[in-house]
Amino acid sequence: MFAVYAAEPSPQDPLAALRIGERPEPVAPEGWVRVSVRAASLNMHDLWTLRGVGIKPDQFPMTLGCDGAGVLEDGTEVVLHSVIGDPSWSGEETLDPKRTLLTEKHQGSFADTIVVPARNALPKPAALSFAEGACMGTAWLTAYRMLFVKSGLRPGQTMLVQGASGGVSTALIQLGRAAGYRVWVTGRSEEKRALAEELGAHATFESGARLPERVDAVFETVGKATWSHSMKALKPGGIIVISGSTSGPDADAELNRLFFLQLRVVGSTMGTREELADLLRFCEISGVRPKIGAELPLERAEEGFRAMLDGETAGKIVFTR
Ligand SMILES: NC(=O)c1ccc[n+]([C@@H]2O[C@H](COP(=O)([O-])OP(=O)(O)OC[C@H]3O[C@@H](n4cnc5c(N)ncnc54)[C@H](OP(=O)(O)O)[C@@H]3O)[C@@H](O)[C@H]2O)c1
Repeated sequence: MFAVYAAEPSPQDPLAALRIGERPEPVAPEGWVRVSVRAASLNMHDLWTLRGVGIKPDQFPMTLGCDGAGVLEDGTEVVLHSVIGDPSWSGEETLDPKRTLLTEKHQGSFADTIVVPARNALPKPAALSFAEGACMGTAWLTAYRMLFVKSGLRPGQTMLVQGASGGVSTALIQLGRAAGYRVWVTGRSEEKRALAEELGAHATFESGARLPERVDAVFETVGKATWSHSMKALKPGGIIVISGSTSGPDADAELNRLFFLQLRVVGSTMGTREELADLLRFCEISGVRPKIGAELPLERAEEGFRAMLDGETAGKIVFTR
């Protein structure tokens, strides 16, 4: 079948490992379903995979794509949940030490067909297109959990999003606005800040700029480049929710500030199946739809990868079949 995959780990030049071509048809084990993929979205995770981060060397070649939307053999339209739990685990799946995301152990969604456990294929609301549904399983689910499960923020309080144009950032802006938070955003260029305002940000700032007042919560995926600003942006007792460190992890922890102002730092990763179901319903009833900056046929996937690598995002990048 046609697929976009990583041939081997390539830490310095991730695109050198990108292949577009034929891969074996997947076979569905007992309890798994075959999904004919209609759309799948690009995540930074796919670039990490090409670099060999978060995947064992013996797992290559690996079909890329951690989320998607498609059709089951019986015609049901579905959205994929990317967190594959261990069958022996009975607790919350994001806390399962043996859980993997699609493309870490099991083949991903940038292909004609993907197989997933039956519980990882959720009914797609008719109101969402396949391209919109494809944005939900990773970036949007991560943003949903950061905002509504981890932050404890109440409507009317102020949130700061570090980064304006990325997949998780745009989801945080759109969901935060819809939920009644005051949404502030930093962006690296005027164009990116304008995008954030178009998506509902109440105010935008240059990266690292002094804010008019301190905020209740900061939402981090950038890491090293913005961490110190995030710590300084918080009110006493405020919270940083972090789910990524694109610019590198070795940040100055600002420990004095952390204890003296009784700040809280909370990690967040993906979300549960139930949270994805709630996110789909939230989009359905609120009318919020993911900002898709680029929609390309899967054959042109390399253009999307290059744009993300160069930081040229304007919302989600979606590949269609
Ligand atoms: N833990 C999880 O479950 C989970 C799930 C999804 C994503 N993530 C992580 O979250 C991060 C973002 O993923 P994504 O798919 O949203 O990527 P993306 O679409 O490429 O977005 C990258 C974002 O990072 C910002 N950024 C990058 N470098 C920066 C720098 N040096 N200074 C300031 N801002 C910078 C960009 O801001 P501008 O708009 O200003 O350029 C942009 O908003 C990745 O590290 C990814 O691995 C984690």
